[in-house]
Amino acid sequence: MSRVYNFSAGPAMLPEQVLQQAREELLDWRGTGMSVMEMSHRGKEFMSIAAQTEADLREIMAIPDSYKVLFLQGGASSQFAMVPLNLLGAKKSADYIDTGSWSKKAIAEGGLYCEVNVAGTAEYSVPAQDDLQLNPDAAYLHYTPNETITGVEFPYIPDAGSVPLVADISSTILSRPLDVSRFGVIYAGAQKNIGSAGLTVVIVREDLIGETLPHTPSMFSYKIHADNGSMYNTPPTYGWYLAGLVFDWIKRNGGLETMARINQRKAETLYAAIDGSGFYSNPVDTACRSWMNVPFTLADAVLDRTFLGEAAEQGLFTLKGHRSVGGMRASIYNAMPEQGVDALVAFMADFQKRYG
Ligand SMILES: Cc1ncc(COP(=O)(O)O)c(C=O)c1O
Repeated sequence: MSRVYNFSAGPAMLPEQVLQQAREELLDWRGTGMSVMEMSHRGKEFMSIAAQTEADLREIMAIPDSYKVLFLQGGASSQFAMVPLNLLGAKKSADYIDTGSWSKKAIAEGGLYCEVNVAGTAEYSVPAQDDLQLNPDAAYLHYTPNETITGVEFPYIPDAGSVPLVADISSTILSRPLDVSRFGVIYAGAQKNIGSAGLTVVIVREDLIGETLPHTPSMFSYKIHADNGSMYNTPPTYGWYLAGLVFDWIKRNGGLETMARINQRKAETLYAAIDGSGFYSNPVDTACRSWMNVPFTLADAVLDRTFLGEAAEQGLFTLKGHRSVGGMRASIYNAMPEQGVDALVAFMADFQKRYG
């Protein structure tokens, strides 16, 4: 068996130990004679998996008791609607910070339900706290801590005063410790740093769970999901289980402090290789560079196809940049080993020597 270093932005690499454990347990989960995929979500076996997974996430993220953790479907994209449907209440407007494509998607969806005030805008950077035009009457302030496509990461948590802060943390969750108590709602699609596609994790402060806008579908109500322990309908059971294996892997590997140290080292190695090359470049303000998604361009785009072909031959996969920006992008989530980044950097130097 030979596994590649997969730099996909998501679905992304999973830790090999997690995949091996899933394989070992695939046909017979711990002597039950059943795969987790075949279990009733209301049976005691799956209920124990679900409870342990939530407990482990609460432990590694230090989630306060005053927050609910929901294991949902619909992707982060459904949250673009669920946030306004659940948080607007009697308010008519919400603040959004626009730092790229995912912010824009959240803004467009939010605009279906309320008046959107764009409190700050930046591309390849983030607006400073002092430059945010915040409305103290807003229902919430929404932002994207890490823009997956352009690789822009907030170096600070915005302060919205008493207005609840909402974060689409899809591509940076679990990459480093986070003070959850600063947020009203945090949500993330699982397919980057949590597990497999099909699961969406929502962490929501209890006092924000309540009435939804009229005609909100039951499946879009935080209250209904919270009241039913995320089992109002059949939850994504296998994704929930896989997330549990990943949380356990994080716990056994030193928790988020250790993840952060390794992630910082990986990112610094890659950015140093780009910046020092005179051949590769990254357009992002150095204060806001993502630890998770590192886009870069070659000195001549004509070489892109050759770069991608040769990289793949060396087991370095999915380096093509997002179709909207071109160039390359290396996504280096928790499961990407440091050796993967070292192999990429060595390949980039060799490629430059031959074509630069
Ligand atoms: C920051 C961010 N938000 C939202 C999404 C959309 O997530 P989903 O495909 O789970 O709806 C993505 C997906 O890549 C993302 O990176």
